Amino acid sequence: MTLFETVFSGNDAVYGLTENAINAAIEQHGADKAISFPDTAYSLPCYYAVTGVKVATLGELKEALGVVKTLMTREMKTHDVFMSGVATALCAEFIEVLKYIDGATPYEAPCAGHVPDAIIRELGVPLVTGDIPGVAVILGSAPTTEEGVALVKSYQAQGILVTLVGGIIDQVEEAGMKTGANVRVIPLGKDVTAVIHVVSIALRAALIFGNVKPGDAASLMTYTKDRVPAFVNAFAPLDDVIVACGAGAIALGFPVITNQEGVSEVPKSLICQPDVEKFNATSLEARDIKIKITNIDIPVAYASAFEGEIIRRGDMQVEFDGSRVDCAELVHTVEASEIEDHKITVVGPEVDEMELGSKNSIAYVVKVAGRSMQPDFEPVIERKFHNYINCIEGVYHTGQRDMQRIRISKDAFAAGFRIKHIGEVLYASVKNEFDAVVDKCEVVIYTDPAECTRIRHEVAIPTFNKRDDRLKNLTDESVDVYYSCILCQAFSPSHVCVVTPERLGLCGAVSWLDAKATNELDPNGPCQVITKERCIDERIGEYEDVNEAVRKLSQGALEDVSLYSIMEKPMTSCGCFECICGIEPFSNGVVIANREYAGMTPLGMTFPEMASMTGGGVQTPGFMGHGKHFIGSKKFMKAEGGIERIVWMPKELKEFVADRLNETAKELYGIENFTDMIGDETIATDPEELVGFLTEKGHPALSMEPMM
Ligand code: SF4
Ligand code: NI
Ligand code: NI
Repeated sequence: MTLFETVFSGNDAVYGLTENAINAAIEQHGADKAISFPDTAYSLPCYYAVTGVKVATLGELKEALGVVKTLMTREMKTHDVFMSGVATALCAEFIEVLKYIDGATPYEAPCAGHVPDAIIRELGVPLVTGDIPGVAVILGSAPTTEEGVALVKSYQAQGILVTLVGGIIDQVEEAGMKTGANVRVIPLGKDVTAVIHVVSIALRAALIFGNVKPGDAASLMTYTKDRVPAFVNAFAPLDDVIVACGAGAIALGFPVITNQEGVSEVPKSLICQPDVEKFNATSLEARDIKIKITNIDIPVAYASAFEGEIIRRGDMQVEFDGSRVDCAELVHTVEASEIEDHKITVVGPEVDEMELGSKNSIAYVVKVAGRSMQPDFEPVIERKFHNYINCIEGVYHTGQRDMQRIRISKDAFAAGFRIKHIGEVLYASVKNEFDAVVDKCEVVIYTDPAECTRIRHEVAIPTFNKRDDRLKNLTDESVDVYYSCILCQAFSPSHVCVVTPERLGLCGAVSWLDAKATNELDPNGPCQVITKERCIDERIGEYEDVNEAVRKLSQGALEDVSLYSIMEKPMTSCGCFECICGIEPFSNGVVIANREYAGMTPLGMTFPEMASMTGGGVQTPGFMGHGKHFIGSKKFMKAEGGIERIVWMPKELKEFVADRLNETAKELYGIENFTDMIGDETIATDPEELVGFLTEKGHPALSMEPMM
């Protein structure tokens, strides 16, 4: 059989299965039975992305299958093969959605099945920063468990997000490897149709970040080809169905690498690599993925994939806990003559001298010197420690400043990992990432309890206090320039964030200080200076300078943006926002939902549904993506009356922002404990009940001018 015939035959086989499955489901449940994937605003995401049609019932699914059939043309042309590949993928999505009928949970650990919108949004920033340099789809069983596991680990060590389908899942499990989104190895499912769940991620990325219109199949394929760095590794033996799925992957621009001998290769798209050990290199080359290498001299692995790894009490050798004993982490700017580059000193006992399972003190001071170093960059560097230390395999870090907590696992200890290696990691990472400002770096790590107490109380806390004062005085009025951030243009080609002291980037990861440091480190990089000399309208925060910058940086897609309004020329969203805020007409206020919130809001929409109202770098008055810290800002929709408009937030978010929000409300309006007036899911998710609650509390939004 030729490659074409194989694809057609695989496509026909899957189509037949799908048709039977849908008919059987209709017979059992009736054509009106509702169908959907959980936690997505995009219906059946692949079918919706390709056709622009949402499918909500079994009857509609059957109609949709008729549309799929029209893609299955049988001329011996490349186009026909690609379309049959796409048709196969869509059939797979139909088969998969049937598994979710009646709210069933067809996948159990370790398999994930359908991936929620919120996770895709979370992946936005690491994908644009290159922290996740690519997405691997591994299909089938490796020739041996060892080879399979080695391949998965090789990608993991590069930070690549790995998804698994079929036999490889058992192999990884057999080897006892930890899996899950937190270590960037996601088993999807054992049936080949489960591969659709990763295709669904790629296509939703186009809708969420790329402003691709559902139904615009050509733009969709251009987007995935140019912007989603995915590729497929398919193990022999390949059957017709897998080959047909592979044709779908290739249509989206994802190369397929296989060890199946005798396949007819297509340059850069279908590649035979008989040696599984070389899959990694061949794949990266085919997809043009470059890996940033940080060589750090430590006895365990170091990769961003380990960032989310959790170390349980029973698995830990020792822990350090700033909430119980004196701890601190600090960057300290000194004169170059005062330090020796790459010197690492441990003052106090090493892990060997600590009792198994004990709680200990730790304080590390990273001394840096450099001509372009500014004290303003200290907190920027310091905040990265969390990420640096977490990337160590077998080491876990949470918190910051003097409240950090670190666990070292028994495995890491057995491999030879010691306190001094934390110093190595901090040194190498700081020098690597901040080379433009840090010329010399020395690390002192204290584990001696008395020294930790001294460092914490006499050095660290006074420094933190000084910084906090500086931050408090840092307002939009007190600075001469703002910064743009266009990192997310990798996925949202026309999106621009304007970052000001009182309005951080909507991803929550880029404050004005971060943007300033980024600009200093890389003057031609993602963050550019924006002057603010020509104010057009103070009320909504519109500047001619900002408009000019935005016009230029969006390549003309955006005309003008305001900094402080959600209704008039609001800032755009890419898609990776921490929160989404939308107007609530009954109460005359706004509802905010955070990405982690899975429930319903008084708008009758969930977070994914609210989030789908905006994104892709377009302006959508009435809906705005923003960072969590923006909620307590005096500039939060100042044009519409400010934070007084907030009528509802999920409880968890409310608690998270309470201190700052209450402080701002007191200062601006003299309201005490403002958060007590704000509804949450335990109070009401119905707009009328919410208004009842707000009335009872005398919420100020009720008597404000209408927003629309
Ligand atoms: Fe993306 Fe804006 Fe965050 Fe920059 S500040 S990374 S553009 S969301
Ligand atoms: Ni103390
Ligand atoms: Ni983004």
